[in-house]
Amino acid sequence: MTNAVRVLGIETSCDETGASVVEDSRGVLSNVVATSLSQHAPYGGIIPEIASRAQLESISAVVEEAMKTARVASKDLDALAVTQGPGLIGSLLVGVSFGRALSQAWNLPVVGIDHLRAHLYAAFIDHEISFPFAGLVVSGGHTSLYRVTGIGEETLVGSTRDDAAGEAFDKAAKILGLGYPGGPAIEQAAQKGSPEAFRFRCDCGPGFDFSFSGIKTAVLYKVQNVKKLYGRVSGQTIADLAASFQSAVVEDLVEKSCRLAQKSRCRVLAVGGGVACNGVLRLRLEEETERRGIALCMAPRSYCLDNAAMVASLGIRLMRAHKSGKRFCMKALF
Ligand code: KG4
Ligand code: ZN
Repeated sequence: MTNAVRVLGIETSCDETGASVVEDSRGVLSNVVATSLSQHAPYGGIIPEIASRAQLESISAVVEEAMKTARVASKDLDALAVTQGPGLIGSLLVGVSFGRALSQAWNLPVVGIDHLRAHLYAAFIDHEISFPFAGLVVSGGHTSLYRVTGIGEETLVGSTRDDAAGEAFDKAAKILGLGYPGGPAIEQAAQKGSPEAFRFRCDCGPGFDFSFSGIKTAVLYKVQNVKKLYGRVSGQTIADLAASFQSAVVEDLVEKSCRLAQKSRCRVLAVGGGVACNGVLRLRLEEETERRGIALCMAPRSYCLDNAAMVASLGIRLMRAHKSGKRFCMKALF
C-alpha cells in the first residue's frame, strides 16, 4: 500500500445503511448500500423504529463488504468518517456506535460528518472543487441553497419553509395512489402526462426560500374535484397531475438555484440529494445553466440517494483542510 489517505465512511441517517472506502488518490474504492425502503412502503413513509432495527441488522455486513470490495484491511485506513446528523436518532445511533467501536478496536480517529454537507459536496466526489460555488441540496428531508467559499464555509442562503421537495413528491404520490417512494413513482407516471395540463405554482416570494406544502394541497383539491365531477380519477388525469406537479417543483428548484449562482457571482452550481435523481430536474438544470453560462456539477445518481461515499469523501476533505491549518476544528464525535 502507498502513502495515500484512506477513509472508511459510514452513513446511517435514515433508511439506508451505507459503508464506503475512499482514497484521496484513487477515489471511491467501494460504495455499499443496503436499504429498508421496501419495509416502509406499505406505510407510505419511513417508520423510524423499522429503520433503526434494519440499520442494526445490516451495518456489520455492509461495512465488511465495503472493506472487502475495496481490498483493504483496517491497518490500511487512516480514519473513519461517520454521519452524525441530521437524521433519525435511532438510525444515527447505530452508525455512530458502530463507528465508535471500530475506532477503539482499530485505533483510528473519527470525523463526524454533517449529512447535508455530505450531499452538498457529493457532486465533487470525482472532481476538484472550484470555489466559490452555489449548491442545491434537494432530498426527502431538506431543500436548501448554499453559497460555498471553502470547506467549512457554507452559508445557508435559502431553505424550505415547510415540506422538503422529496417529501412533497412522496405526499403527492400518496394522494395520487402511486405508492412509495413517491419521487420515482411520480417521475414514471409523469412520462405519460402533460406538464401543462394543470397550472400549479410553488413560488413563495422573491427570495431563495422554498415552500412545497401548498402545491401538495393543490394536487389533493384537484383530485377531490375530479372525483366529485366524474366519480373517479382516470389514469390519464393521474399522469397529467404527476407531470404538472413535477414540472412546477422542478422549475422552482431550477430558477432559484440558477438565480443564486448568478446573483452571488458563482460560476459553478453543484446539486445533490435524492431528488437530484429526477431526470426532468437534471435535464432542465442542464438546459438552464447552459443558457445562463453557469457550469453545472451534478452528483452522479449513485451518489444522490443516501450513501457513504459522500461521507468518506467529505471526511478526506475535512482532514486535508484541517492539516493545512484551517481554523475550524474537525468535529470530534466522542
Ligand atoms: O437523499 P435521500 O436519499 O434522503 C434524504 O436525505 O432525505 O432522498 C430521498 C428522497 C425521497 O423523498 C424520494 O422520493 C426522493 O428522494 N427521490 C426522488 C427521485 N428519486 C428519489 N424525487 C424525485 N424524482 C426521483 N426520481
Ligand atoms: Zn440524505
